[in-house]
Amino acid sequence: MKIVFIIDPIAPLDPTHDSTIAMMEAAQKRNHEVWITTMEQLSIKAGQAWAILTPVTLVPVTLNEGHWVAVEDWYRLGEPELVALNTTDAVLMRTDPPVTMPYLYTTQILDLIDPATTLVLNRPRSLQAANEKLYALNFPTVIPETIVSSVKAVIKDFVAEQGKAVLKPLAGKAGEGILFLAAGDRNLNSLIEISTRWGQIPVMVQQYLPAAAEGDKRIIMLDGEPIGAVNRIPTGSDFRGNMAVGGRVASVPLTERDRLICDTVSPLLKQDGLYFVGLDVIGGYLTEVNVTSPTGIREIDRLDGKNLGNQVIEWLEQQKR
Ligand SMILES: Nc1ncnc2c1ncn2[C@@H]1O[C@H](COP(=O)(O)OP(=O)(O)O)[C@@H](O)[C@H]1O
Ligand SMILES: [Mg+2]
Repeated sequence: MKIVFIIDPIAPLDPTHDSTIAMMEAAQKRNHEVWITTMEQLSIKAGQAWAILTPVTLVPVTLNEGHWVAVEDWYRLGEPELVALNTTDAVLMRTDPPVTMPYLYTTQILDLIDPATTLVLNRPRSLQAANEKLYALNFPTVIPETIVSSVKAVIKDFVAEQGKAVLKPLAGKAGEGILFLAAGDRNLNSLIEISTRWGQIPVMVQQYLPAAAEGDKRIIMLDGEPIGAVNRIPTGSDFRGNMAVGGRVASVPLTERDRLICDTVSPLLKQDGLYFVGLDVIGGYLTEVNVTSPTGIREIDRLDGKNLGNQVIEWLEQQKR
């Protein structure tokens, strides 16, 4: 197969942490052609999606005493070519959030790809429609108490009711802008004003789950099925568990409750073509559905001896049969 990965510029990526690199390594290992591109390299010509693609060869990371190790020159690029994306077998949209206007334009270009020739992961229409924070609201039976608002009075009432709450910018990722709110905090008004840009942008405010101290579980879903999970535990004085802000990772089993959550979200994920997704679960509650470029593969692989990248590529092969 000819597999295209739309990624952020490759040079700064960390091959020992990056889930997309793990998928690219798996594709190479399974003898597929691995091509990369970035959002700016997409075009529409004669109503079809084209991209300047660059072939890439990777030196796979290796496991050394429980840590991934990469060589310094871990990738080599070939000659770029302008290619009609309908001539490729799969396109994996794997750029990091935030969802910006260029990101949305990219999904609109990818919309033109013919599903009969090329599988696009995740489905571009659904990437346009699904906000990572708001998508969880589709599953009211498994989420904590949550409001979305830009109105200070509405937010303050909710915080007063809850005592403690967590505020989340709707476009955030990796813990960015996540705030702990407490009724009576001297900064509460100001925190709400800054986060909502003085009442102009809605934010999510959620019941504070004390179980967050024991970890934020990332569950990787492939075509609606859980294929692995990793716990991210806050360290130091930060209440956030995200790896990007220093959360410690640990192996974690799926509980009955986690499986119920997976079963609850699975039908809609499948219907929406959200094939590769990361669920965030705190204390048995679904808090986020990461659809743009979820991570966790490297951590799950090393902690649990798995090869999730290989599972993704095997699944792609099955779709193309
Ligand atoms: N309802 C909650 N109660 C307590 N902590 C939370 C809650 N929601 C999120 N957190 C903490 O904030 C972090 C980031 O939240 P999340 O909703 O996953 O946003 P993102 O990962 O996109 O920044 C989580 O890892 C968790 O530690
Ligand atoms: Mg998260």
